[in-house]
Amino acid sequence: MTPVHLPVLPFEVLKSFETISKEEKSFFLDGTGGEGGHSKLILDNFPNSRVLINDRDEVMLLRCKERLKDYKDRVLFREGIFSEITFSELAEFDIINLNGILLDFGISTFHLKDSERGFSFKKNEFLDMRLSLEQKLTAFEVVNNYSSAKLNQIFREYGEENWALKIVDKIIEIRKKKKIETTSELAKLVESVIPKKFWQAKTHPSFRIFQAIRIEVNKELDHIKKALMNLPVLLKPNGIITVISFHSLEDRISKNCFKELERTDKFEIITKKPILPTEKEVNENFASRSAKLRILKAL
Ligand SMILES: C[S@@+](CC[C@H](N)C(=O)[O-])C[C@H]1O[C@@H](n2cnc3c(N)ncnc32)[C@H](O)[C@@H]1O
Repeated sequence: MTPVHLPVLPFEVLKSFETISKEEKSFFLDGTGGEGGHSKLILDNFPNSRVLINDRDEVMLLRCKERLKDYKDRVLFREGIFSEITFSELAEFDIINLNGILLDFGISTFHLKDSERGFSFKKNEFLDMRLSLEQKLTAFEVVNNYSSAKLNQIFREYGEENWALKIVDKIIEIRKKKKIETTSELAKLVESVIPKKFWQAKTHPSFRIFQAIRIEVNKELDHIKKALMNLPVLLKPNGIITVISFHSLEDRISKNCFKELERTDKFEIITKKPILPTEKEVNENFASRSAKLRILKAL
């Protein structure tokens, strides 16, 4: 299996865990395993570590298992939402508490390129966008059944889209005649609403609308908020949680949750400002361009 996803900020992620012993046994949680790129780095750099790898997408977890099969009992797998991991679940894996936690938010390159689930405006696929196929809500439901007020709200809040109202009006107009079924239909509809002079150089005009719908379908921000309040308590003293966000909504939540946790005097923020990718990394891996890494330490 050839992985299609390059782990972002690889050196910076490893550096964030530099206070964790390489000689002693350690336990890591990779809450967003994806194709296991970051987990592999951890396994290779911490020879006495075990990593619990979690992903809510069954397909990603299978790809990850296959890729990391040589690590045998050093890797454990859990399929589910990262915000729902608790002490008692760790105990089921014989883990008491954790030395390090990594959360690398969003979706994987595999989702955009090969999942056939309608994540990309560059493809013509059914509007699905579910990360777990056990979920009921799909992008099709959101686009075709949400009220105009609700659509406007998610396009503004999750897409920070200035043209939200006009795009919603167009969706409602089309919905009166037919269902909007595919990514191409949606992308063309957005293109027809936003005048060309307002298109941004490197961003497709429907980028923000696709992001907003994906966040709504998967309730991404709710899970991030919950995870950042629930997971840090699973750390040992001096344990580290490292999070990577890809847009301002995720980063704002991370920043605010970390501040709230620091106020309890049980945690310390290590990154006063987020760590960004180097120009070299952005040139080599375009997906890293908006990444921001923040680190919190348990006291
Ligand atoms: C950016 S990718 C991670 C890539 C990974 N670090 C690597 O190096 O291959 C994000 C992954 O998180 C998963 N994910 C997103 N939201 C999640 C959630 N709430 N709970 C668990 N997994 C989630 C996605 O399915 C996706 O595989």
